Amino acid sequence: MQPKQPRWWQTGVVYEIYPRSFADANGDGVGDLAGITGRLDYLAWLGVDAIWIAPFYPSPMADFGYDVSDYTDVDPLFGSLADFDALLAAAHDRGIRVLIDYVPNHTSDQHPWFTESRSSRTSPKRDWYVWRDARPDGSPPNNWISMFAGTAWKWDEATDQFYLHTFLSEQPDLNWRNPETRDAMFDVARTWLDRGVDGFRIDVAPMVMKDPELRDNPPNPSSDELSRLGAWGTQLHLHDHAHPDMHELYRDFRRMLETYPGERVSIGELHHPDHHVWAAYYSERQAEIHVRFNFHLTYSPWTAEAVRAAVEGVQGVLPDGAWASWVLGNHDQPRFASPARAGREQARVGMLLLLTLRGTPTIYYGEEIGMVDVPIATADSRDPLERREPGRGRDPERSPMQWDASPNAGFAAPGVVPWLPLASDATTVNVAGQAENPDSVLTLTRRLIALRREHPVLHVGDYESFGPTPKGTFAFRRVGLEGRLTIALNLTGEERSIPDAGPGRVLIGTHRDRHGTEVSAVVDLRPNEAVVVESRTA
Ligand code: GLC
Repeated sequence: MQPKQPRWWQTGVVYEIYPRSFADANGDGVGDLAGITGRLDYLAWLGVDAIWIAPFYPSPMADFGYDVSDYTDVDPLFGSLADFDALLAAAHDRGIRVLIDYVPNHTSDQHPWFTESRSSRTSPKRDWYVWRDARPDGSPPNNWISMFAGTAWKWDEATDQFYLHTFLSEQPDLNWRNPETRDAMFDVARTWLDRGVDGFRIDVAPMVMKDPELRDNPPNPSSDELSRLGAWGTQLHLHDHAHPDMHELYRDFRRMLETYPGERVSIGELHHPDHHVWAAYYSERQAEIHVRFNFHLTYSPWTAEAVRAAVEGVQGVLPDGAWASWVLGNHDQPRFASPARAGREQARVGMLLLLTLRGTPTIYYGEEIGMVDVPIATADSRDPLERREPGRGRDPERSPMQWDASPNAGFAAPGVVPWLPLASDATTVNVAGQAENPDSVLTLTRRLIALRREHPVLHVGDYESFGPTPKGTFAFRRVGLEGRLTIALNLTGEERSIPDAGPGRVLIGTHRDRHGTEVSAVVDLRPNEAVVVESRTA
């Protein structure tokens, strides 16, 4: 069903910025807010509707900003509140909305709330976090595992109790069942909404509500997608994740957002590998988080069969009227164009898929130029996860943005040492070079964004299954009052033909020479080619 009056987040494209790695304006090797402001003209040129900026709040940086010690300020590493206001105003001047990361599940252990909470068992903020006695044998209160490996409980000598931390022990979990905590966190959101932000990306949204009895999780009998999450994947997260009470919480959160003018939005990090479990997060009335990420495309092997299963799986379970969203990667996942994922030859195909699916697409910075992971030895890693579970580190996908062919690729001034090493191909793979090349991934991305905006069928048209199609290919349709489009993708390095994808006219394709050409009923695709065909008859 097409939304009658589509919202901006249904027609638009979001761009994720990992602020440490985007642009360093002050020469310390770490990206900052002024750096982002300096690159807004580029983002306007690219055509994105909104940016989501990962955390820039004061933080001891145990998890690079996802350990927040003050939710309402800016870490000096990234600038100041004045820099934030300047960024917001400059983005709005260019018609770009600004979404910020809201990290509700945990604070830093250096947050004054936690310092107070851990000061004594009778502290007025004791119950703002999750404190429990040890079991009689001295072991942790239950079997919950940290997403970053090991028990999710840390013993506190001073007060003789354990506290819960779903991530690092430097990231104690807040207790959202305490109304004071909830009020304080809603106030945090209001502070930023009053400042003018257009919404939030909600970090690990389902984690905030857990079983009030803190029951043990059962073991995970299968080695499904969860197994990629290391030790955490060995359990079924029935009790430490997505307790149904989260629905009421996010309904309230949405109501609060909607007291502000201008279609403020919430985008939740709400993935679950099981499509049905994931769909249940939408709840009956869907009056909760507006847009929900799913990571099915980032977790799938890049084969036609797996991609079809991911897309059709999501489409098949979406409740009536619900809105999907899509990503190829983010700051926690290997980069899409890396050889171990889809490979650079498929970068255009992936981008064409992302920007023609039904649902809000989010582009991770650098994807638009086909950036790949930059390998980092465990000994040199910055991400604490790599040191705890080697192989799971996220530094490779966080390397500095490749702006041009100068030393430091335009990310930082020459001579500065960037916080993570630059890709060795930065002199050839960069924004400046690709902006001038009409056949680059970047110019294709820009054209796709423009087409998605112009063509109502692409932004709000229905999704229709198509096929089966020959091995190695995937196709689907977008259908609306304004026409019918067939998106045909060749995920292999060999030629393929897709019967009945035409006849029609190629609106856009990964290869520019196809634009505007007529195709017959059988659409022939070259290796690594994808096209959007507009049917002659609707
Ligand atoms: C989310 C973030 C990730 C972070 C974790 C803990 O999954 O995307 O980067 O480490 O939450 O806050």
